[in-house]
Amino acid sequence: MFLSPDSTTPRRLLVTGGAGFIGSNFVHYWCQTYPKDQVFVLDALTYAGNLANLTPLKSHETFRFVQGEISDRALVDHLLQAENIDAIVHFAAESHVDRSILAPDTFIQTNLVGTFTLLEAFRHHYQQKQSGRFLHVSTDEVYGSLNPHDPPFTEKNAYAPNSPYSASKAGSDHLVRAYYHTYQLPTLITNCSNNYGPYHFPEKLIPLMCINILLGKALPVYGDGQNVRDWLYVLDHCRALDCVLHKGKAGETYNIGGNNEVKNIDLVKILCQLMDELAPDLPVSPSEQLITFVKDRPGHDKRYAIDASKIKTELGWTPSVTVKEGLRKTVQWYLENRDWWQPLLSQEYQDYYQQLYGL
Ligand code: NAD
Ligand code: TYD
Repeated sequence: MFLSPDSTTPRRLLVTGGAGFIGSNFVHYWCQTYPKDQVFVLDALTYAGNLANLTPLKSHETFRFVQGEISDRALVDHLLQAENIDAIVHFAAESHVDRSILAPDTFIQTNLVGTFTLLEAFRHHYQQKQSGRFLHVSTDEVYGSLNPHDPPFTEKNAYAPNSPYSASKAGSDHLVRAYYHTYQLPTLITNCSNNYGPYHFPEKLIPLMCINILLGKALPVYGDGQNVRDWLYVLDHCRALDCVLHKGKAGETYNIGGNNEVKNIDLVKILCQLMDELAPDLPVSPSEQLITFVKDRPGHDKRYAIDASKIKTELGWTPSVTVKEGLRKTVQWYLENRDWWQPLLSQEYQDYYQQLYGL
């Protein structure tokens, strides 16, 4: 079991990938919501990890950052034991489908071998401590692609991953599940739809579009722009993970989604309208003129949609932010945080951009 938030003893969390997009939002959320708890972040600081995401927590006594690999067994063993960790919240992953198509190797290493290493370390730690939780944060992409009239994914859908990214996440989910059944470890899995919000690395769809509009650069829409994603504001994902960590049943999977299906082209147009309204002096206005259809992603999943009724009925979670509010907040955040995203448009980023888009 995981201690209740009312317990007088502070809980001790190890958050892997806590310098990335969702992980850092989760750490901010947790430190604000449960200020007595001790939070340790383990993050390798790959291209997607950014210490600036955690700057506001630097001086918090209850927060500590450790730079390192999740596949470093000695380091993970040391952290679990020395810090007497109660729960692992596992975000660390290679997370970008396009990068997995260009270079799948690190996806296998981090998502599969890294998760396996964490599970082995947790198994050893749990044998001694006899308490704890392992929450594995995964994606709806493991279920593959839906046709336009298919019902949304439930936890009972068969896995059918289509990209090296989703295949590596699917493999890691299977390992986590197996560790519950074989070793009775208290593991939990969540499969969430596309997130958006603050601290989202510039190469993903929403930040990429916001930043390109501000720079007056082309807005690359893959294929015909008719692919559908189910968008969830990142803070709602963090609230859902809180529910699962406290109330979820060990060995179970919970789907998390915003019930907000939007076609890519419609989403890009909403972002253009919001930027036209909120940003003064755009280099190109109206910014819809920048929309450019480009070559489709190989194996591009047509549609994702999540049926989140299990987490709603069993744990009482529902999303609190509508896509309209969430997108407005997000556009505002990118407008106000140029100092955060500008340094991320490094030479490495430009090279990646050139390789992917040729633009
Ligand atoms: P991200 O790419 O922004 O962050 C990943 C973090 O993991 C980075 O800080 C990176 O430095 C760190 N990392 C990578 N390899 C590591 C390693 N070997 N050892 C230690 N740290 C390492 O990813 P994100 O978008 O925040 O996603 C977090 C998790 O949530 C992932 O597991 C992803 O599969 C899952 N997820 C993401 C979404 C989404 O829309 N972004 C949706 C559902 C699920
Ligand atoms: P992305 O943010 O990469 O998330 P995922 O592939 O995990 O869903 O992309 C979201 C959608 O936007 C996806 O259908 C691909 C599409 N897309 C574009 O059309 N243009 C782009 O430049 C990017 C990055 C994505």
